[in-house]
Amino acid sequence: MCCSVGTSVRQVLFCGLSLIQTLAWAQDVSVDERQQKLLRDAETLLLTEPEPDWVRLILTDLELSTELNAASQDMCRRILRALATSGDETALEHVRSVFENEPERRGMAAGALGQAALLHPESLGDWQLMVRSLTVVEGADAVSVLQGLKRFRLRANKGTWVRQVILTGLQLPEAERLWASQLLQHWTSVPARSAEPWTLQQYQVWFQQEYPEAPSAELPVDRPDRRWTYSKLAPAVHDLPADESVLRLGAKVFETAGCARCHRRGTVGAANGPDLTTLGWRRQKAEILRSLLYASYELDEEYPTVTVVLKNGTTHSGLLQQAGDKRLRVFTAGAEVFEVGHDEVEAVRNQAVSAMPEGTLEPLSLEQIQALMAWLTSVDGVPKPHRTEPEIE
Ligand code: HEC
Repeated sequence: MCCSVGTSVRQVLFCGLSLIQTLAWAQDVSVDERQQKLLRDAETLLLTEPEPDWVRLILTDLELSTELNAASQDMCRRILRALATSGDETALEHVRSVFENEPERRGMAAGALGQAALLHPESLGDWQLMVRSLTVVEGADAVSVLQGLKRFRLRANKGTWVRQVILTGLQLPEAERLWASQLLQHWTSVPARSAEPWTLQQYQVWFQQEYPEAPSAELPVDRPDRRWTYSKLAPAVHDLPADESVLRLGAKVFETAGCARCHRRGTVGAANGPDLTTLGWRRQKAEILRSLLYASYELDEEYPTVTVVLKNGTTHSGLLQQAGDKRLRVFTAGAEVFEVGHDEVEAVRNQAVSAMPEGTLEPLSLEQIQALMAWLTSVDGVPKPHRTEPEIE
């Protein structure tokens, strides 16, 4: 299986890696000892003059990443940064491949590309990866991405991305938020370049006025009466079991919790909302959890939620769908379909609130939520999706 995934360089490395792993296990080395040795080797490799052996560093990164904890994560971040700034094309390709193939390490890879952009802000492909990373980057990786993006003349000044920079900045400590403000100034030309950049609070107010139909640029807040919150669930979905019985339970929860009314995954469910078949490739677990807990945090423009006001004064809210000539269809959160002729419609208003119901996880047990997440993120046998790139000005 491992040898059929990814690009050619990665294939070879992956197969080499499993061989190394098999040997290590055969010698009965404990995970801890193995990691200590890898960390020491990596340290030595990084310090090699005149330059490190990039291929060995790539192999070390792949091996360390199989057991991600604080120490290995730190080292992987250092390795990816060294690879990205090396000027060596194979090394750089590895960083891009981590971004595409390992959603959980996407932020780390983007942070490394940000460092590379500080030296050579040239690759349009890397710029696009960094823009896509804005929904996941945190901490030092976020700072590096914000700094890197600012070095390009390109600007992603579509509302969704502008909003995302505000949100990324709001998650940073006060002293580092200026990086987000500066990128916002560069992308939006507001305020003019000669003026002092605004605070993120000023951008939040401006965003609301400039994009009245978009969800506001605010971090989600947990309602106090909610049983399941992000801080409770995030650690619980970190390492998910993926055996057959768990995946079967996950598929069942998808149907009983009503997700299948709107979403399709493989052959299950309906296509009223986004298709979730390739979700595990496209999204990090943290992002998926946010979609489930805060449905309106990130709206998908392909599935607009609207309120239709009829001439007789009644209103109907839900997902707007095509229904042939001169007719309009709305799919409601309660899975009812409402169809009406154009001549009966007074107005159609976009809503900044998702049609996906809030609180869908509330009735579920932790075991059910974990199984649902495991099933949704499983990519076994799922081909990688064709991706859409952020628009450029
Ligand atoms: C009434 C329809 C509806 C129901 C029911 C529903 N969703 Fe959604 N879901 C949506 C829509 C629409 C979106 C796109 C976000 C938006 O614009 O509102 C979405 C977005 C998502 C996303 C993010 C998709 C992506 O591509 O990143 C995930 C994950 C998701 N839903 C999972 C679920 C799960 C799991 C359930 C059941 C617990 C569920 N949804 C129930 C309509 C629904």
